[in-house]
This record gives sequence, structure tokens and C-alpha cells, in this order.
Amino acid sequence: MTDAIPRPTEGDVVELILDDHRVFEELLRAMRDETNDRDALRQALAQLLVAHGEAEESKVYGQLRRKDAIDEEEVEHSTEEHDEGYEALLTLLQVTDVGSGEFGDGVHEVSEKLSHHMDEEERDVLNPARTDVTDKERARLGASWAKERNRLLDDDCGRIDNVRRLVERATRPE
Ligand SMILES: [Fe+2]
Ligand SMILES: [Fe+2]
Repeated sequence: MTDAIPRPTEGDVVELILDDHRVFEELLRAMRDETNDRDALRQALAQLLVAHGEAEESKVYGQLRRKDAIDEEEVEHSTEEHDEGYEALLTLLQVTDVGSGEFGDGVHEVSEKLSHHMDEEERDVLNPARTDVTDKERARLGASWAKERNRLLDDDCGRIDNVRRLVERATRPE
């Protein structure tokens, strides 16, 4: 599971994003099981969550906005939800005992934030991407998103100091 973060390089952006959403659910399910290597699983989740979300923000949301598929409010709302996810992730990464109730609580909190965001994104972002954007554009966005996501994975973007930086970026006053 932990070595198995897929590395697609092309595809329809909607399908690629949905594939990752399924992986998030699998990682969270595996992390609920105390007999698994929870530390390795949380590292994998951190890498994928940051790479997935940051690549959406830089390569997908703004592009869908420019095509008038989604509005600015949707971009801001989705970005805020990413930040809430990173905050819950940071709390989980800071738990020292992976067998503790605290770890379970941390998994629960990440699950809540992520399932909320995936539901909204699948309904309010991916639906307009399906209907208001051409197949060709979705393929172009898919390749661009995948390239950035893979670059971030290579860059070890889920390390704790980087997750902390993302949380601080979100909470810094304007
Ligand atoms: Fe997503
Ligand atoms: Fe997202």
C-alpha cells in the first residue's frame, strides 16, 4: 500500500483526481487497523495529500476558473478546505505513539475533513469539469496536474516541516 502510490502521467483530469480520492479512502481504512504499519501509512497519506491538493490548486482550479466552469468563490472554498486537511494532517503527523487513542482520533479528524472535501469537490468542481470543459482540455489538465503532482512527490512534499509550512501559510494574517 505504502509503496503503491500510483504515478500516472496522463489521463482525463476528472478520472485521475477520482483515482486519488479512492487511494485516500484506502489509506485511511488501512490506518484504522492497528495491526498495520500506521507510521508508514501516514507518511504515504501525507505525501499524496499534499501533492494532490497543491497540484489541484496550481494546475486545475485556476484553469477551470478561467474556463468559467467554476467561480472564484469555489476556488477559495476548495483551497480553504485543503488548508483544513493539512492542519488535521499535521496533528496526525505529530502523534508519537501510533498505537494510541490519540492516533485514532487524528485519523478520525483527517477522515472527516477529507471526506467532506472530496464530496464537495466531486459534486461542485468535477461535475462542471465534466460538462463545461472539452475532452481535450480535460486531457491537457490531466497531464499538467499529474506532472506537478509527481514533481511534488519526488520532492518529498509530505515531510512534516513542509506540512507545517503549509499550515502556517494558511493561518498567517494577510
Ligand atoms: Fe481532490
Ligand atoms: Fe481538492
